[in-house]
Amino acid sequence: MGYVTLVEIFKHPITQKYLRRSGVHHAVNVTEIAYRLASERKENPELATKAALLHDMGHFEWYREGKWDYDEYRRHDIHAIKGAERAHKLLIRLGENRVKAKEIAIAILLHTDSYLPFSVKEFRTPLQQIIYEADEMDELPKGGHHYLQMENEEAIERLTSIDQKIQEVSDKLQSN
Ligand SMILES: [Fe+2]
Repeated sequence: MGYVTLVEIFKHPITQKYLRRSGVHHAVNVTEIAYRLASERKENPELATKAALLHDMGHFEWYREGKWDYDEYRRHDIHAIKGAERAHKLLIRLGENRVKAKEIAIAILLHTDSYLPFSVKEFRTPLQQIIYEADEMDELPKGGHHYLQMENEEAIERLTSIDQKIQEVSDKLQSN
C-alpha cells in the first residue's frame, strides 16, 4: 500500500465536488494551520493535515434566494458526521491505511460539537484538538470562510509544499 499524498486526495473528483461547496480556500488554510500546530506539538502532521483538508467535506448548501441561509444550516447541520463518513470512504478508495483512515475520520467527526447536544471539549485527543483549533482560527463570522475562493492551481501548490515537508520529516526519522 503506497503513501497517499494531500495532492492526490485533493485532486480526486469526490474531494473536488465537496470542497467546491464548502470552500477550497478554507480547506487549504486549515490544512496549513494544522501542519504548523502538529509540528509545534509533536503530533502526527500527516494525520492532522489529511483530517484538516477534508474536515468540511460533509457540508450541505442551504440556500435561500440565492444566499446561504446560515440559520437554516444550523438547524439541519450534521456536516461532521457526513464528512467523517465521506472522508473515510474516499481514503479507503485511495488506498489509505485503515488505521490512519479511522483516526482521520474520527478527528473530522469531533472537529466541532456544534451539532451535538453536549460538549466534547474535554474529551478530544491532542490530534483532534488540532483540527478543532485550526478550523476556529480560519473561521469568519456568518460562515464567511466558506465563500472565499481559491484556484486549484494555488491549492495544489500549497498542498505540494506541505506534502514535501511531511516527506522530509519522515525521511529524516527513517535515516536516524
Ligand atoms: Fe471548517
